[in-house]
Amino acid sequence: MSRSQRAEKLDRGFTVWFTGLSGAGKSTLSTALDRELRRRGRRVEVLDGDVVRTNLSKGLGFSRQDRDTNVRRIAFVCHLLTRNGVAVISAAISPYRETRQEARRLIGDFVEVYVRCPIPELVRRDVKGLYAKALRGEIAHFTGISDPYEEPEHPDVVVDSGAETVEQSLERIVRHLELCGYIPLQSAEAETADAD
Ligand code: ADX
Repeated sequence: MSRSQRAEKLDRGFTVWFTGLSGAGKSTLSTALDRELRRRGRRVEVLDGDVVRTNLSKGLGFSRQDRDTNVRRIAFVCHLLTRNGVAVISAAISPYRETRQEARRLIGDFVEVYVRCPIPELVRRDVKGLYAKALRGEIAHFTGISDPYEEPEHPDVVVDSGAETVEQSLERIVRHLELCGYIPLQSAEAETADAD
């Protein structure tokens, strides 16, 4: 993308759509990206799977149909905000490729970030204790254990949360947004000026 094309896009809204298994780091990265985008003067909204399920999608379960409904609702809100110039961050497992594609088509300015983490590592971390329960058969249809997760075929960014730090992943996502022209390139000189 040329310098002038990038300049034209700078006030455009966009959605960063995180996808990945439970516990892979979607929410952590969302918080970090939210902070960084705000620091750069953007208006930001985060739609986190766990939070959305306590209000917008309250009452929905984890069947394919309910997950698709959940993801479509999130995508619709992302679409409304994106077209009004907001930087939107979505952090839901969103396990089905086709439904993510639908979100991409609806939203348009859509950056898919696959937060990849090997299942043994997720089981080891098990922050919410859900993997242990799922492995004992106490949670049916648990994504990655007893329910499908369809990996993105052409994600815009892949972060490997088992191997890189939050800062490293964040830097790669921000760099991608800069190269796409959604946020201004932050030159070394600009960083020095910020620090003054
Ligand atoms: S999605 O599939 O509809 O995109 P979403 O991101 O909203 O999922 O919710 C996932 C969160 O719900 C997980 O992080 C976990 O805390 C919780 N959860 C409860 N039951 C399940 C399940 N069967 N599969 C996956 N996550 C579950």
